Amino acid sequence: MDAKPVLAVIGGTGKEGRGLAYRWARAGYPVLIGSRSPQRAHDAAQVIRDRLGPDAQVEGRDNLQAAREADIVVLAVPYAAHRATAQALREAVQGKIVVDVTVPLQPPKVTKVHLPPEGSAALEAQAIFGPEVQVVDAFQNISHHVLWSDATPEMDVLVAGRGKAARQTVMRLVEDAGFRAWDAGPIENTIVVEGLTSVLLYINKRYGGPHAGVRIVGVAQD
Ligand SMILES: NC(=O)c1ccc[n+]([C@@H]2O[C@H](COP(=O)([O-])OP(=O)(O)OC[C@H]3O[C@@H](n4cnc5c(N)ncnc54)[C@H](OP(=O)(O)O)[C@@H]3O)[C@@H](O)[C@H]2O)c1
Repeated sequence: MDAKPVLAVIGGTGKEGRGLAYRWARAGYPVLIGSRSPQRAHDAAQVIRDRLGPDAQVEGRDNLQAAREADIVVLAVPYAAHRATAQALREAVQGKIVVDVTVPLQPPKVTKVHLPPEGSAALEAQAIFGPEVQVVDAFQNISHHVLWSDATPEMDVLVAGRGKAARQTVMRLVEDAGFRAWDAGPIENTIVVEGLTSVLLYINKRYGGPHAGVRIVGVAQD
């Protein structure tokens, strides 16, 4: 069996990143939690080891070191920090897949779609990283509460981004995290995947939530 890739979760001390780190560590991936503060990263890794047991392969690093050591880098920082974080990691992610989890929300109006000038956070990241990096969106439509829970999720994950092989790799990560994954097409489609989050947040607000999601019906998986 092939060794599992090392995953870095940049912003892994936060709500969404910690949930992803938890699910991947639970599935046996080596996970590096990235933070601006190595101490916060170590503390977040400890919380996950406390939950999963000492065999869980999860450690803390500063963001840059985590990205350097990883095979696949996951960006899970607030949109306000997305551009600067991507620029700081540019060299470290060359030749790698970057899984972008960012939604370009504009607080406090998070229930209204906001599209950045490039179209989506993923397109912004792709422009910063350049052609040797494949940026793939996933998990935009999954609440951190769902990630941190052990319940089997009802909702699916849409995977859109640059390159079919890269999307397949990310779909495997999504499935190992416990979700059904759908190939949702090229990076231009991230505009809709990211925008959909504001629609779901609106539905949560309008109907009392708690975790609206999408489920694809009417088609069989490969
Ligand atoms: N929360 C959800 O349910 C959810 C669902 C889908 C998608 N997302 C997306 O996932 C991303 C992370 O969301 P979140 O809720 O996890 O955010 P969060 O908890 O507010 O922040 C995540 C981490 O980002 C780092 N960070 C915060 N401000 C920063 C800055 N100015 N510069 C650099 N790093 C900064 C922090 O890590 P350090 O301080 O340790 O560096 C923080 O722990 C967002 O883009 C969000 O749209 C979230």
